[in-house]
Amino acid sequence: MKPSSPVPPPPLNTLRQQLRRARRQLSASQQRHAAFGLARHLRHALLWQGARRIAFYHAVDGEIDPGPALRLAWQLGKACYLPVLHPIKENQMVFVRVWPGSRLVYNRWGIAEPKPALKHSISPGTLDLVLMPLVGFDEAGHRIGMGKGFYDRTFAFRRSQHRRPALVGLAHECQKVAGGITPSAWDVALDALATPRRYKALASHR
Ligand SMILES: Nc1ncnc2c1ncn2[C@@H]1O[C@H](COP(=O)(O)OP(=O)(O)O)[C@@H](O)[C@H]1O
Ligand SMILES: [Mg+2]
Repeated sequence: MKPSSPVPPPPLNTLRQQLRRARRQLSASQQRHAAFGLARHLRHALLWQGARRIAFYHAVDGEIDPGPALRLAWQLGKACYLPVLHPIKENQMVFVRVWPGSRLVYNRWGIAEPKPALKHSISPGTLDLVLMPLVGFDEAGHRIGMGKGFYDRTFAFRRSQHRRPALVGLAHECQKVAGGITPSAWDVALDALATPRRYKALASHR
């Protein structure tokens, strides 16, 4: 029998759809366990322990919920931020500090953002650690996002400069792309990965 030829990887948008469907199918209890598992692994990481200013996100579309990690960070006295779409620079984000009970409003993507925003926003380069939601990841730290390039644009300076913030991708294990991800020139690589099961530092990037 002839060996079968390797199956070509699906186009990126097809892969995005498959990965997003997989995470949306997780039950509420799986999501809850995942969120607490994630916080347990994160709290042991050096990047977390050394960070004073940390960016989180508001989970949508089955994304792993950084909520328990956010509450832990507040308890530890860390300054916590959420991304807000930049009003002028297209598809870029700024970061706004949030406290327990901060008021959020929904932006045009249906994602909750802190309000009032820009007066209290800080520039991305002053964060120590950014927790980024992933659609897909591989073991080398390549990521697939929602397809708008928000994080790639906002942290483009990290491609040429080895300075803060550290970028840590958060995902469920079902978002792993076993065959690996071929990065594009504009993609910003991750410094570490965190899932409900593990934390993986990617020393090659820092
Ligand atoms: N630094 C950047 N400057 C300008 N455009 C960018 C930059 N980073 C990404 N983009 C654009 O954003 C779009 C989406 O990027 P992509 O990497 O596919 O999305 P995601 O990272 O969300 O998966 C691409 O068309 C890309 O050209
Ligand atoms: Mg990208």
